[in-house]
Amino acid sequence: MSHPALRISSALSAIEERAATVLMPTYTHQPVAIRAGSGCTVTDVDGREYLDMVAGIAVNVLGHGHPAVLGTIAGQAARVVHLSNLYFSEPQLDAAERLVATAFPSRVFFCNSGTEAVETAIKIARKWGKLNRDGASTIVCARGAFHGRTMGALAATSNRHYREPFEPLPRGFVHVPYDDLAAVEEVVDGRTVAVLMEPIEGQSGVVPMSDETVRGLRGLCDQHNLLLILDEIQTGMGRTGRWWAHQHAGIVPDVMAVAKGLGGGLPIGAVLAGPRADILESGDHGTTFGGGPLVTAVAAAVLDAIESEGLVANAARVGERLHRGLVELGQRGAPIAQVRGRGLMLGVVLTEPVAPAVVAAALDLGLLINATSRSALRLVPPLVLTAAQADAALEMLAAAFEVAGRQRAEGSE
Ligand SMILES: Cc1ncc(COP(=O)(O)O)c(C=O)c1O
Repeated sequence: MSHPALRISSALSAIEERAATVLMPTYTHQPVAIRAGSGCTVTDVDGREYLDMVAGIAVNVLGHGHPAVLGTIAGQAARVVHLSNLYFSEPQLDAAERLVATAFPSRVFFCNSGTEAVETAIKIARKWGKLNRDGASTIVCARGAFHGRTMGALAATSNRHYREPFEPLPRGFVHVPYDDLAAVEEVVDGRTVAVLMEPIEGQSGVVPMSDETVRGLRGLCDQHNLLLILDEIQTGMGRTGRWWAHQHAGIVPDVMAVAKGLGGGLPIGAVLAGPRADILESGDHGTTFGGGPLVTAVAAAVLDAIESEGLVANAARVGERLHRGLVELGQRGAPIAQVRGRGLMLGVVLTEPVAPAVVAAALDLGLLINATSRSALRLVPPLVLTAAQADAALEMLAAAFEVAGRQRAEGSE
């Protein structure tokens, strides 16, 4: 998979030109156009292969081209692709039943993305406040949080760069330091209705909340009669070595937002509400596409495959190996200050701002990784990653660090 060849082929430059002409430049693309994928490997338009440690940002939990996903898409598409929530459909029930079985006693609302799942959770909180807390509406969120790009989820997100161009945002969100129970306690008052947080902050560089804080938040919400809403959009579906990250702490939230890996690559979101928070009624909320038979059939198949292939345990086991290997890379001289996260959701904090250079060098070597900032890398590979693939990733990463280090030394000479 090693090809330090010229990156920009004529095929790629033609694609870059087309993209600049017709696509809004909301994303900075890596210089690669991917045409196909199989397992943990993807192939670009020039036929080069890459080991995919990004997995569509924690989406392709079964890798690419998994037979359960392909077979279910073909079978369900031949039956019916779209109906409407005006009608019952069995795949939706299959997906909901399996989802609840992995989580906590609850009922499900299906939507199409993570940000929509968060919007739904916010609406539940606001209505719940009217019913149970005298109209209280303020939601306590964390600094560093990322909950999505629609206006409510954006109001819960803390990064100013994402927020400021679109202000004014909906009111009623406060942000406190992450993983800081006392800070939450300090802002809770009669206007507070819920706490909304990620068990591990993904977008800000894979920053875990301690299990103690997760349990503390549960206790605080019980004590003050608040809803505990967990955004498990990135941490869920087995990625951290448990079905849901909050299960490491042995607690249960009132509301949980799910998306990313649930559809095995198809767009889907879901919200689970426990009995205390299960208050949406007919007409309160809706979506044309949400919970359609095609995506929910695939979601049910993905949940089955994760279970039958033991992928939650695999995420724990291979994640541990990857974690150890990254720490060893640092000990051998790579500019690694800290490795954090759980299972196959790992963040690598660098001692130097070389993350973009490492991502570029890794790409040349045949490895897809992601930088969340100039000094942090994120690894969120498919849960089907094998130990051998984790070792191969570590080898390429070691080489990428060397290339980036050399470039930095040459640049500073
Ligand atoms: C924790 C978390 N919440 C919400 C979202 C938004 O999900 P989507 O991009 O599907 O709207 C993301 C996406 O990265 C996320 O990581």
